[in-house]
Amino acid sequence: MTCTNHFFCFLYFVFAATLLSRIESKTADNLLKGFTVTPDASVTSFQPLLTDSNANYSLGLLRVNHTQLALVILHLPSSQQLWVATTNRSPRWSTSTQILFNGSLVISDKHSRVFWSTKTNGERVYLANTSNLQIHGQDSILWQSFDFPSDTLLENQNFTSHMTLNSANGLYYMRLGYNFIGLYAKFSRHSGQDQNYYKHKAMEIKAKIIEGQGSIYASLSSDGFLGMYQNVTAPIDIQSFSSFQQFNPGNRILKIESDGNLKGYYWTGSSWILDYQAIPEFCELPSSCGPYGLCHRGKGCSCLNNETEYSSGKCESSENNSGDFCSLRDSKYKVLRKNGVELPYKEQMVYEQMNTLEQCERSCKDSCKCWGAVYSNTSGFCYMIEYPIQTLVSVGDDSKVGYFKVRDSAGSNKVAIGLGIGAVLFCGAVLVFGWAVVIWRRKRRVSRAYVEGESGVVGVGPYKDLASESFSSIELSERR
Ligand SMILES: *[C@@H]1O[C@H](CO)[C@@H](O)[C@H](O)[C@H]1NC(C)=O
Ligand SMILES: *[C@@H]1O[C@H](CO)[C@@H](O)[C@H](O)[C@H]1NC(C)=O
Ligand SMILES: *[C@@H]1O[C@H](CO)[C@@H](O)[C@H](O)[C@H]1NC(C)=O
Ligand SMILES: *[C@@H]1O[C@H](CO)[C@@H](O)[C@H](O)[C@H]1NC(C)=O
Ligand SMILES: *[C@@H]1O[C@H](CO)[C@@H](O)[C@H](O)[C@H]1NC(C)=O
Ligand SMILES: *[C@@H]1O[C@H](CO)[C@@H](O)[C@H](O)[C@H]1NC(C)=O
Repeated sequence: MTCTNHFFCFLYFVFAATLLSRIESKTADNLLKGFTVTPDASVTSFQPLLTDSNANYSLGLLRVNHTQLALVILHLPSSQQLWVATTNRSPRWSTSTQILFNGSLVISDKHSRVFWSTKTNGERVYLANTSNLQIHGQDSILWQSFDFPSDTLLENQNFTSHMTLNSANGLYYMRLGYNFIGLYAKFSRHSGQDQNYYKHKAMEIKAKIIEGQGSIYASLSSDGFLGMYQNVTAPIDIQSFSSFQQFNPGNRILKIESDGNLKGYYWTGSSWILDYQAIPEFCELPSSCGPYGLCHRGKGCSCLNNETEYSSGKCESSENNSGDFCSLRDSKYKVLRKNGVELPYKEQMVYEQMNTLEQCERSCKDSCKCWGAVYSNTSGFCYMIEYPIQTLVSVGDDSKVGYFKVRDSAGSNKVAIGLGIGAVLFCGAVLVFGWAVVIWRRKRRVSRAYVEGESGVVGVGPYKDLASESFSSIELSERR
């Protein structure tokens, strides 16, 4: 190639150089001690750091909402996120954030505030062809991302009873019990009690659970099933996927979704197709139509309150939808009743046997933790709900009656409180102003009478300077 124009020559070299560096960074499959990187301002979506030998997976920096950064592992052909380093605060997409490897893989900022760290003393970081990110020591693996799953499990990743699989919105999670897989919802931020909405018990056909032999674990098999095991030899349970017994390693994932469902997917080479779902019925999801919603099988959503129009999953304003009724300020509510309703996961709910509907309602009314109760006239079961009401399922049977508390619009209370505070502040301001005027008038009278010419500002000058200086330095350190 001949360069006829200096400018285009320059462009050509720049282009070739960036292309080369891109390829170089793509082929790196190990990070060594001393590695540091800061987010590139020109990157709008993903900045790869490490890619596995098949170029199926990549560890890199994901730009979230333009300004934030997440350290993630992606499935490259689909950009599907498989893992994320869980931080309490979101690091910023700016050169003040750095990712480094000094034995630990660390996300920190310039002031060495650590957002996230593997807390290891390793030799290198390696991305395996299973998408498992590993920190290798001299002759052992010190840390692996497979031990800290986010919302997705990969094939042959061991999900133990110490782990949780968390939905991306933080509302749902999967956990193992003594002999089951359980799904749980954090409907109440107040009570530590999370609601179990799905439970799959081990069938124990090929092997029985033996007490004292250690806890169980689950794993997704390359043969297309989700297995539960106590020891390696035989599974205590098998849940087969649609792709069951098609041996095709590396192409399946299991994910807890933000609607609370647990789904298996199969990679066809060009897209992920649904391979399994724990909850096949839409209405059986823990909150299919949102808070105070009513799900009609095969017919979609409406609201429990038949005077409210169901639109975009909002039946009650969400600010009315937290906490309980135990404090004086929050104790007011209206009552909503609805016949022919049932809880979607009543098998997992505790209940009490009661003789009448009135008795069931009264026990909810008397408990400030209770948000509602569902009573079945035929069985006498009274289900008490101790978190903000979610979706109920419409059933033909009118003997199933729901009683629900609806918080008395906290919105207007807030406005009232706001007005109150405003009034107090205004009165305060008027008082202070009046007082200042009185003082100023008095001072003027006094100074006129006695101390003409005396400097009243000795000492004030330096003090003022100091104050403004420390003020600006605070501002700067906050900005940094
Ligand atoms: C690695 O860097 C982090 C953040 O600066 C620091 O807290 C940690 O002590 C360092 N670890 C080692 C082994 O130097
Ligand atoms: C993945 O890597 C392992 C060794 O680390 C190798 O045995 C295996 O064949 C590789 N699998 C694929 C699909 O490349
Ligand atoms: C999963 O557990 C089995 C049995 O304990 C073990 O052989 C295997 O190496 C584990 N796999 C991973 C990825 O840790
Ligand atoms: C991984 O890469 C191999 C070889 O390039 C390919 O055959 C396989 O389908 C890929 N797997 C996934 C899950 O993308
Ligand atoms: C709403 O439900 C109440 C009680 O179930 C009933 O009396 C009322 O007629 C219903 N209103 C509408 C608009 O359907
Ligand atoms: C509930 O059951 C009682 C007797 O078992 C019956 O008298 C009453 O009508 C029933 N109520 C409803 C709403 O079905």
